[in-house]
Amino acid sequence: MKKTLIAAFAAFLLVGCKGNAPVEEATKSGLLKKNFQTEHQGKQTDLYVLTNASGMEVCITNYGGRIASILVPDKDGKMRDVSVGFESIKDHISVAGNNYGALIGRYGNRIGNGTFEIDGVKYDLPKNNYGHTLHGGDNGFHTVVWDAKQVDNSTLELTYLSKDGEEGFPGNLTCKVVYHLGADNDLHIKYEAETDKPTVVNLTNHCYFNMDGDVAVKNSDWVLYLNADQYTPVDSTFMTTGEILTVEGTDMDFRTPTVIGKRIDNFEFDQLKNGKGYDHNWVLNTKGDITKVAATLESPASGIAMDVFTTEPGVQFYAGNFMDGKDTGKKGVPNGHRGAVCLETQKYPDTPNKKDWPSTELRPGEKYTTETIYKFYVKK
Ligand code: BGC
Repeated sequence: MKKTLIAAFAAFLLVGCKGNAPVEEATKSGLLKKNFQTEHQGKQTDLYVLTNASGMEVCITNYGGRIASILVPDKDGKMRDVSVGFESIKDHISVAGNNYGALIGRYGNRIGNGTFEIDGVKYDLPKNNYGHTLHGGDNGFHTVVWDAKQVDNSTLELTYLSKDGEEGFPGNLTCKVVYHLGADNDLHIKYEAETDKPTVVNLTNHCYFNMDGDVAVKNSDWVLYLNADQYTPVDSTFMTTGEILTVEGTDMDFRTPTVIGKRIDNFEFDQLKNGKGYDHNWVLNTKGDITKVAATLESPASGIAMDVFTTEPGVQFYAGNFMDGKDTGKKGVPNGHRGAVCLETQKYPDTPNKKDWPSTELRPGEKYTTETIYKFYVKK
């Protein structure tokens, strides 16, 4: 009885009444749950809302495990949505090649020539990016419907079974990702996976952060700190060359917080030319220590800052160089060139073909576990 009353009260809070037709109230970030409800791949999609006592809100859809909005206070206490994406599941599904806010797997970043070997067995993957495999293929984890369980107001558990052979990868991979919004405006993402055959795993999140909460504002004035002495350079097909180079004396040095726009267009430097701007993996000095800051991104205009903490050895800083304004994002504003920054924590690109790098292999009986925290605050 008590439970029924609570459920009725919760429904009353969520659904206002206009005449006879119930009208759904939007989430604080302006999204409507009903715009995220559809059937896809025989499964139901929905929008899940995480909140904390400080008033922060994160909305997530189980389609691709995508973060749909992140609402945080700016320096004047005004709430801004710092996650770029769409207002409906229709756009998330239909806009070609997009991965806004998504969970990326089975292998985040690139695998060279779409091929790798384990125990002498060669596996061929779909080549979807300049002859290589990017983000687990076009039908990677960002495009699948995860099973969702909202554990409490601030925790969402997503699970997915990636079948043996899916997008060419070996082994049935059981995955669990837990999103948890902490009291300190800290968004935790915990990844777990187990396999029944040797395979490779590199899971990450592809949130496009706009630190002004306005995708019309480009990332050039935001300040970035990367706690990294080294990075992995790429060739003209965005494929890592296998080298690990120092950032010292180059435009890749973010050990002193630097505005992104200062050097991004220096195409005299082959790395910025190859990446069309920043689109590289940095080798973190934190070496898996999640208590140390790996990266900080901040907008001096809004005052919104975000620290990144991770158990992972690398982070891909992608400056939205391929964003071109062709997709219309939230509030009808085009998701324009460099209107966001992605900080994708991960193992290094093409590790399955780079035997000396921190391994991405997962074998039966082992458990893959990683964690990343995006912590928001105001810098006055
Ligand atoms: C890649 C970019 C790619 C983007 C969108 C990033 O992780 O490095 O090259 O365009 O994701 O998929």
